Amino acid sequence: MTTDLAAGVSAEDQMVQSCPEASPMKWHQAHTTWFFETFVLRPFLEDYRPFREEFRWLFNSYYNSLGEEVPEKKLRAALSRPSLVEVLAFRAHVDEAMEKLLGGHIPDDAARRTILGLNHEQQHQELMLTDIKHAFFSNPLRPAYDAAPSAGARDVSLSEFTWHRFHEGLTEIGYPIDPTNCLDFCFDNETPRHKVYLKPFRIANRAVTCREYLGFMSDDAYARPELWLSDGWEEVKKQAWRAPLYWERDATDSSGWRIFTLRGWHPLSALLDTPVCHVSFFEADAFARWRGCRLPTEAEWEHVATGRAIHGNLLDTRRLNSAVASGDGLDQLFGDCWEWTASAYTGYPGYKPLPGALGEYNGKFMSSQMILRGGSCVTPASHLRATYRNFFQPATRWQFTGIRLAA
Ligand SMILES: [Fe+2]
Repeated sequence: MTTDLAAGVSAEDQMVQSCPEASPMKWHQAHTTWFFETFVLRPFLEDYRPFREEFRWLFNSYYNSLGEEVPEKKLRAALSRPSLVEVLAFRAHVDEAMEKLLGGHIPDDAARRTILGLNHEQQHQELMLTDIKHAFFSNPLRPAYDAAPSAGARDVSLSEFTWHRFHEGLTEIGYPIDPTNCLDFCFDNETPRHKVYLKPFRIANRAVTCREYLGFMSDDAYARPELWLSDGWEEVKKQAWRAPLYWERDATDSSGWRIFTLRGWHPLSALLDTPVCHVSFFEADAFARWRGCRLPTEAEWEHVATGRAIHGNLLDTRRLNSAVASGDGLDQLFGDCWEWTASAYTGYPGYKPLPGALGEYNGKFMSSQMILRGGSCVTPASHLRATYRNFFQPATRWQFTGIRLAA
């Protein structure tokens, strides 16, 4: 899948790092390979010969306890060497060694790390698409990642906005991991499973649409400090936000706007009923306040999503953009865009990071970030669970992030 996603992207395009949050596509391809070499092959495959010794530190992202230099993130765009050809040879070398390792009996810890490596790579597959979208948007020529129209694009009517009501009571959230089964997987931040008390609440049947968000913009919301959290208002002023990321004025469209997507520009008038995407937590929170509502907590979201099939407009549809909600019940919980929640990213009661360097995977980021749930149109379907916790800083907009209301 990783190399498929990069197949139509030139070596030059794979060098671009257009914002501090993003990484070049070539780096993603090398770093995901590095993960298997560092955490699986070096410790578990006897006689493993590393592809190039320098890669051990060159493609380390943030694991300080490996004891070696971690190159500054902003330097990833400077790595014209190794070439893309060499990075692909690195991938082939590691693939071959992994096949050799998996062909025999492997210890439980190696199996667990292999599954973690696959899930890590799926996270980077999503990042490859979010990052190349930003890279192409930053290029004055504004190229499309895929110029073909969406396969299976449907002309459907938007489901009417409704509330779904949930009763007060105790619920449990978090993944019930089976420690005796090395094939049972979740990220450490999804554990331990624990009880949470919920007050009665309502949650919207679908995500907020571009049309609804345009109403917020037209009501001068970006100029009204009373709608914003203090830090959010500072970001509005500092970054001169007036619309979601990737929206641009277009006098030729009846809406006055056009939107840049992985399939190039689309007039907003053609996307009005699709979920609004690429908004920050601050914009999601201000929109909810403007509507007299709030964002769901992550416990409410998980309570609602538990037991529902992981089905929706995910990467596997290859639509690469949000789609119109048309279902009868609760729609778009999985896919389309990640949903900002009102919950800060902290450890669950009793949370323990993984032992060793892998403990740096999630735990050390548990400050100043907000939880998002549900995946997006560029998340691989097999990557998600109802318990899955994504997290980003509240001002970030380059991910496929949207809004679901609660009250
Ligand atoms: Fe990574």
